[in-house]
Amino acid sequence: MATFTIKDNRTGRSAEFEVLDSTLGSPVVDITGLHKELGVYTYDNGLGMTATCQSEITFIDGAKGELLYRGYPIEELAEKKNYIEVCYLILHGELPNSDQYESFEKDIRIKSYPHEGIKNLFSAFPDNGHPMAILSSAVSALSAFHHQHLNIKDDEEFMEMARRIIAKMPTLAAYTYRHSMGYPLIYPDMDRYFTENFLYMLRAFPTGKTEISEVETRALDTIFMLHADHEQNASTTTVRAVGSTGAHPYAAVVAGINALWGRAHGGANESVIAQLEMIGSVENVDRFIKRAKDPNDPFRLMGFGHRVYKNFDPRARVLKRLRDELRDTIGINSKLIEIADRVEEIALNDEYFVKRNLYPNIDFYSGTILEALGIRKKMFTPIFVIGRTVGWITHLIEQKRDPKQKIYRPRQRYIGKKRRSVP
Ligand code: ACO
Repeated sequence: MATFTIKDNRTGRSAEFEVLDSTLGSPVVDITGLHKELGVYTYDNGLGMTATCQSEITFIDGAKGELLYRGYPIEELAEKKNYIEVCYLILHGELPNSDQYESFEKDIRIKSYPHEGIKNLFSAFPDNGHPMAILSSAVSALSAFHHQHLNIKDDEEFMEMARRIIAKMPTLAAYTYRHSMGYPLIYPDMDRYFTENFLYMLRAFPTGKTEISEVETRALDTIFMLHADHEQNASTTTVRAVGSTGAHPYAAVVAGINALWGRAHGGANESVIAQLEMIGSVENVDRFIKRAKDPNDPFRLMGFGHRVYKNFDPRARVLKRLRDELRDTIGINSKLIEIADRVEEIALNDEYFVKRNLYPNIDFYSGTILEALGIRKKMFTPIFVIGRTVGWITHLIEQKRDPKQKIYRPRQRYIGKKRRSVP
């Protein structure tokens, strides 16, 4: 057994802990008995050094800029597969054969209709409410309409629960959008593939033909694929934390949606475009770069930096290529791209960014593509939700299947007042 010794220099006491191998990446030290042996806890601000679980779903090598879903590189999946095949892969561990794909894809189409009662919710929200707030409430309501998923007993039920939320998320996101625009809510179209159907639900009016090109469907499908999972990020960890208490699976997903909303996480895609618009022209880029480098200014370059990727974000590379391919086919906003290109050029050669390993992340590129698809900024983070739902729900299932799973209950370093009497 490989071990790791921790010595307390205050007392001279030491203890050995088992080192657990990983299939890929760093091994981990199992410190479960640390407090019992040495009377201390670990302090790991932001959990950056802590593995909170074992997982078989996704692997990231931040130094190499590698992302694998169930062992397959994201670049190959994005080139050769579609989002629904990737969903099957993430959920089941293997790519589907043609029969498996057909039945999975058909079931996702069938399940895309939410209960009619859910539609009533939307009228209660103001038109200008943020779509993430409304979507989060709608998914919360979904747990009330599918109470049967609270206590799942077997694998078939897990998969049924997973397919249901994957299928309904685009419909709920589209309802959210349509409500905010004052458009009538419309039903999914069973004859359309998942991603085409989502674009249809955003664009369609009760009458008239809705045009959606294959290029557009493929572009959004790629964005969904690249967002499908990202191991133990803030929202997935939140989903697992809530799932560990035995809450309804959809309630755990709601917690993930709320965690994703923040600008340091999924909310960055909306902020990138807002920031590029604020910069306004190529001439202003230097001024904003200066602000991003000023330690006394809270301004950060949105779409730059990543907690794990310290070389480049492989998803960003796929999207940059896609964006450049789409420039001529779907009329991408060239003024924003010009500003983005200048930001990228300066930042990649500036000592401040180079020294801190700050590279463009997925959000830096996704916004310009979504904008070209005619999707409003406020819908960018809900689109991230649609793509990530499969990842969240698969982590939850993995956690529920793990006989050793425990309720999440971290410790703290208490630095408050010592015990005192009330005067
Ligand atoms: N612009 C300017 N400076 C930055 C940026 C940025 N975008 N990101 C990090 N830094 C600087 C910090 O000020 C800090 O500098 P210092 O060492 O002089 O104090 C250093 O880089 C390290 O920053 P941390 O915040 O400690 O890095 P961490 O790994 O915790 O944060 C994060 C990662 C949150 C993504 C951060 O880089 C950031 O806020 N980026 C902008 C928001 C963004 O794009 N988020 C999307 C992330 S990807 C996703 O969720 C899909």
